Amino acid sequence: MRVRLAPIVFALAAAFPASLLAPIAGAQTPVALTPPMGWNSWNYFAGKVDDKGIRAAADQMVATGMKDAGYVYVNIDDTWEGERDASGVIHSNSKFPDMKALADYVHSKGLKIGIYSGPGLKTCAGYTASLGHEEQDAKTYAEWGIDYLKYDLCSFREDTMVKQAPNDKAAQMTLMIDAYKKMGKALQEATKATGRPIVYSLCQYGWDAVWEWAPALGGNLWRTTGDIDASWDRMYVIASQQSGLEGYAGPGHWNDPDMLEVGNGHLSLAENRTHFSWWAMLAAPLLAGNDLPNMKPEIKAILTNKDVIAIDQDPLGKQGRRAYSEGEVEVWTRDLQGGGVAVAVINFGSSRYSTHPFHLNLKKLNLADGEVGKNLWTGETVTLKDQEPIELASHDILLVRIDNPQRMVRLAPAPTRRPNTPQ
Ligand code: GLA
Repeated sequence: MRVRLAPIVFALAAAFPASLLAPIAGAQTPVALTPPMGWNSWNYFAGKVDDKGIRAAADQMVATGMKDAGYVYVNIDDTWEGERDASGVIHSNSKFPDMKALADYVHSKGLKIGIYSGPGLKTCAGYTASLGHEEQDAKTYAEWGIDYLKYDLCSFREDTMVKQAPNDKAAQMTLMIDAYKKMGKALQEATKATGRPIVYSLCQYGWDAVWEWAPALGGNLWRTTGDIDASWDRMYVIASQQSGLEGYAGPGHWNDPDMLEVGNGHLSLAENRTHFSWWAMLAAPLLAGNDLPNMKPEIKAILTNKDVIAIDQDPLGKQGRRAYSEGEVEVWTRDLQGGGVAVAVINFGSSRYSTHPFHLNLKKLNLADGEVGKNLWTGETVTLKDQEPIELASHDILLVRIDNPQRMVRLAPAPTRRPNTPQ
């Protein structure tokens, strides 16, 4: 359900009332200073998620070494919601007999727990959402011990935006931003009492240039596209759409190209490697979405590759960008803290075609001939030569970290402007 409203956005940018986008005062303890890492129930379990499954996921996060590799959040997606009681308090349904006890269990493993709702009457799967009960729900989540909320637009669009402001896109947008702001504020209020911050994840499919306004509303991450699925084509389309958004990501606020499909569907090992590496290059949240109790060793090896995770979690927080493409090969780079750089060379060619040998042009990356780095999938030290042929299987990736690049052109520090100096 991907609808592009981009042309409207430009018309609306000037029309945002400044008060609407004023940052929420008294912000909570900083969270998500690096992209959130964890696991989410939706991609594999969808409506089959339950208390037992969440406990098993938490157990496996520890047993598989994922926790040690940096995964923290165990996130319950849609279908946990029950009914509201006479006072309007939301209760979980029979799949989740005691949310507080579940949160305590996840916390006892040294992990954190996430939950899901939306600004409409119903969630995407048709369960009770938060409309009219935002403060109450935020308070309930805080009391349960929730650490992360994914807030999904879904029915709010048709039931509220379109109904209340038919044919008035600007008014619809105001309604939507207000709704996200309301929950952002409610979370901050609710967490004041507990001191436990809640990461705020906006899910409205990348409509309306969300990256421009989400951070001011307390958003720590925002989906940039419609839903991912476990196919190479969908993963490729989504990753490509991140190009150009790199300026919006940074510590505390991240573009979210959706949860990982590593280990799901029929993705080949090369595709799983590329998917994971690409999300790391994009400084994307790393939320695994696979069946953890039945994870194959080769999938675990991908998800726990600490060198690749270190690219994702680089404290500088600079999202990578597409440096250039040539035929079926794309080259992406990501600047790292301390002056290093990660280089990803990805072969998008299907096995029926071959662009090999591809010759890596280091000049286009402002890198010198003979850069020494580490191949993050083999662990070997490599020397990259200009115009060197690079052999890559279909949909595979070469990912190299260069800590001390010998740049072709030294990157000059930004000039200091002196007042009254003619520019
Ligand atoms: C939307 C979201 C998905 C998932 C489902 C749940 O489609 O984009 O990530 O949360 O809703 O119903």
